[in-house]
Amino acid sequence: MSNNFSMDGKVVVVTGAAGGMGTAITRTLVEAGARVVACDRAAEPLRELCGSLGDAAADVAGDITDPDTVQRMVSTAVERFGRLDAALNGAAIEFESVPLHETSDEDFELMMHVNVTSLFRCMRAEIRAMLAAGNGGSIVNIASTNSFKPQPNQPAYTASKHAVLGLTRSAALDYASSGIRVNAICPGTIDTPMLRNAIERRGRNPEEVAKRLSRFGRFGTPQEIADATLWLCSDASSFTTGHALAVDGGMLGA
Ligand SMILES: NC(=O)c1ccc[n+]([C@@H]2O[C@H](COP(=O)([O-])OP(=O)(O)OC[C@H]3O[C@@H](n4cnc5c(N)ncnc54)[C@H](O)[C@@H]3O)[C@@H](O)[C@H]2O)c1
Repeated sequence: MSNNFSMDGKVVVVTGAAGGMGTAITRTLVEAGARVVACDRAAEPLRELCGSLGDAAADVAGDITDPDTVQRMVSTAVERFGRLDAALNGAAIEFESVPLHETSDEDFELMMHVNVTSLFRCMRAEIRAMLAAGNGGSIVNIASTNSFKPQPNQPAYTASKHAVLGLTRSAALDYASSGIRVNAICPGTIDTPMLRNAIERRGRNPEEVAKRLSRFGRFGTPQEIADATLWLCSDASSFTTGHALAVDGGMLGA
């Protein structure tokens, strides 16, 4: 592996760190040499994850809809580890299985509040810290294949993931001159609690879903998202910004 993939000396914040992808992402970044501030509202699994990673990880338990949690996450990176080089914004929710005309105001607003407004606030805090330090940085947002190709009965989730791409591309344009790169990963069907819950809610057969939505006939693994995250957080992707990277078993492209 080229040294450009090394995260030695770098500090990263990760939201949704206790989730299916977040756990693999946090571990992979630490294994590559990073120190990670891991944030999630699931306090117990978060504590266990960080405990298993020793001094290289700090846990910030809290809800990212609370601006104080977002500020604590970024402040912990700067105050405890001395800097902020990269961020992975992965915390999100998905609970729908109805079309738009049956979607309540409450459900739409909740989805946008967590998946868009809170991600926007995370990006804002991360960018402010990176601008203050003047060393550039890399921000990676988890969008979705839904950012390009919706699945049925997910109007609010689909809208929220389109918005994540909008925030990604807009920030990529505005902060390239400051050396801050901003990219998105668009996962397809990745084997995590979020996917398994969605399949169960719809009464679908997991094998049928995997065959229909992936050209490899299987779900992706959290590690496959973690490896893409490592590339985008590290100097190995130094000429890449404003990009939406599909990690989707060919769902969008083939
Ligand atoms: N699994 C898939 O197939 C798939 C596909 C496309 C996109 N995604 C996206 O990937 C990302 C990771 O999802 P996952 O599959 O690992 O799901 P997951 O449910 O396993 O993990 C999500 C994590 O985010 C945390 N979280 C949710 N809301 C939060 C809040 N308000 N404050 C703090 N933490 C919060 C949860 O506690 C959980 O640990 C999400 O952005 C999701 O939308 C997932």
